Amino acid sequence: MLFLSLLGLFLSTSSYHATKTLYVAGLLEMSDHWWSKYANFLPTLFQSAADEIFNRTDILDGYELKFVYGDTKGKEGLAGKVLNEVLSASPPKIAVFGPQMSDEVKLAGAITPFYNTIQMNFVAKTSTTKDKSVYSTLYSTNYIEDDLNPLRIALMNHFGWNRVATLAYNDDSFTSQIDEFHQALIDNNMTLITSGIITDLRNVENHITRLKQYDSRVIVGAFRSSAATTIFCEVYKQKLYGRRYTWILTGASMYRNWIKNADVKDITCTKANLYEAADYMITLDQNQLSSETKVTISGRTPAEYDSWMKSEASNTPYSITRSHPWIYDAVWALALGLNNSLKYLNGSKLEDFNYDRSDIRECIIKGMDEVSFDGVSGPVSFKDGRRIGQSFIQLNIEDNRTDAGRFDPYTGSITWDVTPSSLWPGFKWLIFNLIICGTELSIKKTCFGQIRVALSNSLARSATTQLIEKTLSSWFLAVGFTSAFGALFSKTWRVHVLFHNNSIRKKVIKDIQLFAVCGVLMAIDLSIMVPWTLFFSLQRKEVVVTIEDEENDITHKEIYTVCTSSTQVYWLCVQYVYKGLLLAFGTFLAWETRRVEVPALNDSKLIGFCVYNIVVVCLIGVPLNHILDDEQKTARFVLMNCFVMFCTALVLCILFIPKLKLRNETDNIKFVPSLNGKITSTVRPSQQTKAPSSGSNPDEKYRASEQTKNGHKSVAEASPALRGQALSPNPTTDTIIQSFVAEDSTTVC
Ligand SMILES: *[C@@H]1O[C@H](CO)[C@@H](O)[C@H](O)[C@H]1NC(C)=O
Ligand SMILES: *[C@@H]1O[C@H](CO)[C@@H](O)[C@H](O)[C@H]1NC(C)=O
Ligand SMILES: *[C@@H]1O[C@H](CO)[C@@H](O)[C@H](O)[C@H]1NC(C)=O
Ligand SMILES: *[C@@H]1O[C@H](CO)[C@@H](O)[C@H](O)[C@H]1NC(C)=O
Ligand SMILES: *[C@@H]1O[C@H](CO)[C@@H](O)[C@H](O)[C@H]1NC(C)=O
Ligand SMILES: *[C@@H]1O[C@H](CO)[C@@H](O)[C@H](O)[C@H]1NC(C)=O
Repeated sequence: MLFLSLLGLFLSTSSYHATKTLYVAGLLEMSDHWWSKYANFLPTLFQSAADEIFNRTDILDGYELKFVYGDTKGKEGLAGKVLNEVLSASPPKIAVFGPQMSDEVKLAGAITPFYNTIQMNFVAKTSTTKDKSVYSTLYSTNYIEDDLNPLRIALMNHFGWNRVATLAYNDDSFTSQIDEFHQALIDNNMTLITSGIITDLRNVENHITRLKQYDSRVIVGAFRSSAATTIFCEVYKQKLYGRRYTWILTGASMYRNWIKNADVKDITCTKANLYEAADYMITLDQNQLSSETKVTISGRTPAEYDSWMKSEASNTPYSITRSHPWIYDAVWALALGLNNSLKYLNGSKLEDFNYDRSDIRECIIKGMDEVSFDGVSGPVSFKDGRRIGQSFIQLNIEDNRTDAGRFDPYTGSITWDVTPSSLWPGFKWLIFNLIICGTELSIKKTCFGQIRVALSNSLARSATTQLIEKTLSSWFLAVGFTSAFGALFSKTWRVHVLFHNNSIRKKVIKDIQLFAVCGVLMAIDLSIMVPWTLFFSLQRKEVVVTIEDEENDITHKEIYTVCTSSTQVYWLCVQYVYKGLLLAFGTFLAWETRRVEVPALNDSKLIGFCVYNIVVVCLIGVPLNHILDDEQKTARFVLMNCFVMFCTALVLCILFIPKLKLRNETDNIKFVPSLNGKITSTVRPSQQTKAPSSGSNPDEKYRASEQTKNGHKSVAEASPALRGQALSPNPTTDTIIQSFVAEDSTTVC
């Protein structure tokens, strides 16, 4: 029963398709070669893939791939001979797999185009085969290091590097990739600072010296780990490592644990030196087995495939090469390429292929160029016969290689597994924000002139808040100045009016008039500030200041927002003119009344001193505010605030400390709310209060100072009279004293 049904199944499948066989030649180093132990497993691998493809109805339906093998023994001449023998034997082979050694592929790949047959390469890494005019039918599922150039350029773009140096060992595969890299630099407008080709390891010193002389920071190297010991020993001696330098090498040529296995007999460095010099170098590489977890075209994930193929290998006496995912994908790539070519065949059939059918070859090439699938080695497609696929950035710390990022050649983008900044030793993403009067200051430490901006949202405040703060601060400054200085100004003015009127009748200015003066000054201020705020409101602008720290190769970038408006300068001018006039006039009044000596007006001198003070500070501060540019933002901020604090504190101290003293000396002082109109009468500058106008006579000077003493004394003497409302024998003087004392406490605008 079981037998019958199996027979039925067999009959139905075999009669369902008249299966046509496509023959494929496999050139393997099956004997007498170190690779034989791997090569002998390949027939099993090929057949497993071919069976899976045969089982698929959507790929090469009705076709079967059949492999025919030839043994090249790893010798290039023999590979050429065997290739001709295998191809000449009937039936015609539509494709050739292998051989695996570079020299063999260079020879065989140049022959296959003349047989119009496709050749699949999956192990041999040779840059020679890049030449499409010679190797027109060769497709590689493995990578060559030249394929890392797009990643090198992407890395440079990512970090904003545009100056690079290269150092290659004199070997085709290295010089070829570096040549291609140099061309890519030109295409991307980047600068090649210097390049070196090491032909003799004894000359490494000169190469490293030149790298240093040209101030190379980013160095792309192409050499094997065997040369790396000598090179990094010299790098160590000339200190071409550390945060200032980035070495970018290739993972395929730099074996893992190369320092651990290094032979340090021939070099003058210890392994510890090498560890130090090669620390944090970057290696670029392509994976053999994809690390992704998605199901590939064969219906397996890369990991599933890997364990399946390894178990297949364990059933054979042979070993499995690390490159097996490329080999497996090569079979699928050919199958899909042939499947794609079906639509171009235009009546002909694949089974009609013979070595004269260049038209079928062209169809297959078109089909191969369209290949694009998810293989177990990652996405597979070809450009000019070269594999396009993912590449990786790996970081080497203490010779431990860890993944740092992946490069997708289709989008040209790098996906980072680590923060890119951790690619450098001792690199700290130093960000601190200072918030200064509505401005925000971020300082970022970067590397290699590279500037990365990390937004610190926690401290960034909304634009509106900043604008309001800044507007308020200009208001406070303008109004504060007017109210403080206006008060001093009006009092000085009163003293001036009292004592500098040559007419006999003296005028006493009432409190209300002082308030009026302050009010007028304030009104002028408002008439400037209100239209400014309403019609020419402030806008937010980001200012970026870059400070280079050559010593440590660090760029500090400060970003802060300033609030400004296009008409700012005119409004500032108006403010300065107005306030300047006020200051000038205040100074003049203070100067005029400098010699006024009245016990009752004991603070007129102090007020004058305050005015001078403010003038001097403004004379220094205002120009300084404009001279210091944005780069000295911090200095400006500190200076301006010191000036404001100093000025206001000094004025308050000068005015009020003596008053506290006075109040202590004369307790129970009774303040008269205001001056009575009727007392505006007959105060005249007595001999005692009017200082000598010309101070040239020493006698007069002496008298003046004596009078000053007397003046102080008279306040003390007058104090009993100040007690209570009782009128003293000399009513006018007393009332005046009282009124001035009263004014001191009330005339604060
Ligand atoms: C082919 O398909 C059959 C039926 O689906 C399955 O039993 C067999 O294992 C498949 N062979 C391969 C090589 O995948
Ligand atoms: C290089 O520079 C040229 C001219 O300056 C410009 O046309 C071209 O787009 C640039 N190429 C790249 C990749 O930036
Ligand atoms: C194979 O070719 C056929 C016909 O040209 C097409 O329908 C099918 O999608 C192809 N298979 C794949 C996997 O591309
Ligand atoms: C297909 O073949 C016909 C006849 O041989 C020819 O006229 C036509 O141009 C061919 N088409 C293509 C796309 O090659
Ligand atoms: C490197 O690997 C070794 C052995 O696995 C381990 O001991 C060492 O800590 C690793 N070093 C770093 C920096 O990861
Ligand atoms: C002096 O005082 C008189 C009377 O109050 C006044 O008319 C005159 O304008 C004053 N002169 C000055 C220079 O202030």
